[in-house]
Amino acid sequence: MRKPLVAGNWKMFTVPSVSIKLAAELKTRLSDCDWADMVVCPPYTSLAGVISELKGIAIEVGAQNLYWEKEGAFTGEISPKMLLDSGCKWVIIGHSERRAIFGETDENVFKKTRAALDIGLNPIVCVGESLEQRDSGATEEVIKGQLLGGIGEFIDISGLTIAYEPVWAIGTGRTAAPQQAQDVHRFLRDTIFKKWGRKAADSIRILYGGSVKPENAGDIRSENDIDGFLVGGASLKADSFAAIIEALK
Ligand code: PGA
Repeated sequence: MRKPLVAGNWKMFTVPSVSIKLAAELKTRLSDCDWADMVVCPPYTSLAGVISELKGIAIEVGAQNLYWEKEGAFTGEISPKMLLDSGCKWVIIGHSERRAIFGETDENVFKKTRAALDIGLNPIVCVGESLEQRDSGATEEVIKGQLLGGIGEFIDISGLTIAYEPVWAIGTGRTAAPQQAQDVHRFLRDTIFKKWGRKAADSIRILYGGSVKPENAGDIRSENDIDGFLVGGASLKADSFAAIIEALK
């Protein structure tokens, strides 16, 4: 049995004082949760405050990005060690906004994922097709390309989590129908099975992301291959994030 995982991606929202308040509310709301693993990913400037607020609580903290080099003259970048040292345990890699706005490639995703694994951070590697790609029937080809381009070189993928986030469902209010998401999750698991074998395919968690809300969380999660969520907008309010997690009970 794969334990569900719900990660909140706070994106470029919340200044530190607001982040800490949100973390404090989550702490109260979710203190008895033992049915799901929980992660929040605030902006860099809020990491220290949120980590300190959540000390001793089963909500872990992640970053939204990292750079693959250990250190050096890379103005504006954050290294894996900086994240680990600050108390982060997770990192989102290859989010569609990073791919689309900042030009991240599968090769970048590979380097970032390798750097995260090397130091002991848990990467959540994102894949997802655009509306155009879906409409032209290219979904599987795109997803497979991103998956193998990002993680295909690893021999052991047991430290990884995958997030399927159709670009057309992110922040649009348009969620993939449970069956639509399940089809892609099934395809991802089959692809993993073919390359890494049964054990890897059975144990890896594949999250769904894209307009997840308390109202649709239960239905989506009831699909066999959907192991939790990467939540954007609805993770910015303690009530809705907690309600999504409660829907998985
Ligand atoms: P959304 O974002 O839940 O606001 O659609 C999801 C994400 O970008 O991870």
